[in-house]
Amino acid sequence: MRNRPESFSTVAIHHGYDPMDHEGALTPPLHLTSTFAFETAEAGGEMFEGARAGHIYSRISNPTTALLERRIAALEGAEAGLALASGMGAISAAMWTLLSPGDEVILDKTLYGCTFSFMQHGLAKFGIELTHIDLTRAENLEAAISRKTKLVYFETPANPNMRLVDIRAVSNIAHANGALVVVDNTYATPYLTKPIEHGADIVVHSATKYLGGHGDVVAGLLVGSEDLVSEIRHVGMKDMTGAVMAPFNAMLILRGLKTLELRMDRHCASAMSVAEMLARNEAVADVHYPGLGSFAQHHLAKRQMAQFGGMIAFELKGGLEAGIETMNRLKLITRAVSLGDAETLVQHPASMTHSTYTAEERAAHGISEGLVRLSIGLEGIDDVLDDLAQALPRHPIRSAA
Ligand SMILES: Cc1ncc(COP(=O)(O)O)c(C=O)c1O
Repeated sequence: MRNRPESFSTVAIHHGYDPMDHEGALTPPLHLTSTFAFETAEAGGEMFEGARAGHIYSRISNPTTALLERRIAALEGAEAGLALASGMGAISAAMWTLLSPGDEVILDKTLYGCTFSFMQHGLAKFGIELTHIDLTRAENLEAAISRKTKLVYFETPANPNMRLVDIRAVSNIAHANGALVVVDNTYATPYLTKPIEHGADIVVHSATKYLGGHGDVVAGLLVGSEDLVSEIRHVGMKDMTGAVMAPFNAMLILRGLKTLELRMDRHCASAMSVAEMLARNEAVADVHYPGLGSFAQHHLAKRQMAQFGGMIAFELKGGLEAGIETMNRLKLITRAVSLGDAETLVQHPASMTHSTYTAEERAAHGISEGLVRLSIGLEGIDDVLDDLAQALPRHPIRSAA
């Protein structure tokens, strides 16, 4: 091997596994076991003490999930990884571990609906202070942060309106004030952005989405330093949530990761075509896609993302009513929540994924009632474009000039 880092797909396919250690099995074995035998009583005691390495019980660790943990850590450029039952399991296990009553969390204004609800209603119930600011301007953090700020949390791109946050700028301010930075990297995946390399401390994922990639599993992942991940494993996952990933689900995510690069290339190319088509259509008022020159943070997108992702949000001139009618006219594109699947999916955040916000909260948090969210799949792009074209309200198409 030449002296250069292995490419993304090579790591995604091979890292941390040698078939020769497993009777030549090309595919890593599925360790479908809840518990593990100790050679002697003393050996078991030493494992509980942490003085001896090994697996004890699958709510703490399991060889199949451990392989996935090594692989996601390598792909994200982190020291360690942790596999959890869902994205919400990863987020809640991290928060319960790192926060205490009286701490403050600074959050970006736009968050996935259940993350917003967990923070706003869940954490607040236990005496944690939540402050929502517009993190698209890093200088807003400078003004808001104080000694009681324990961590800063955001998504980039954010679900559903695609806002981007400059990870490096926010991390510099947070660290200068002793706060940790937690980034939800579900939309970008490590193929497009590695937040740890930009200064983040912890990265969380809904692995249900692009990492799994096939819409057949609910799963979560988290990466960070050895110390932070070990603490979240032993406190937030083992004791406080029990949100452990099943070994079978780890196998499905390991399989998904093998084609992540190929799938993301296709998602990104197709999303660019759809975004350009929407931007040319007279019925469309606004398209939110980081790859468009008209996107307010296009320069940050070019700096922070390898490509611009598979997610698009748009608004029609006819508002909510036109959006609902358009969704109902779609024939190939499927009306469903979730994202990152082979199928192109469409949903209406205000009545679906972001219905956990009140209408007033959505207005204050920049999530408009008429926004329609698209997750561009892997179908032939002409079929996706044709379906959208027949479903959009009839208006003359703007000329390319
Ligand atoms: C950005 C983002 N983060 C976290 C989650 C939660 O993940 P899960 O559904 O796997 O619990 C979602 C789910 O849609 C999401 O879109």
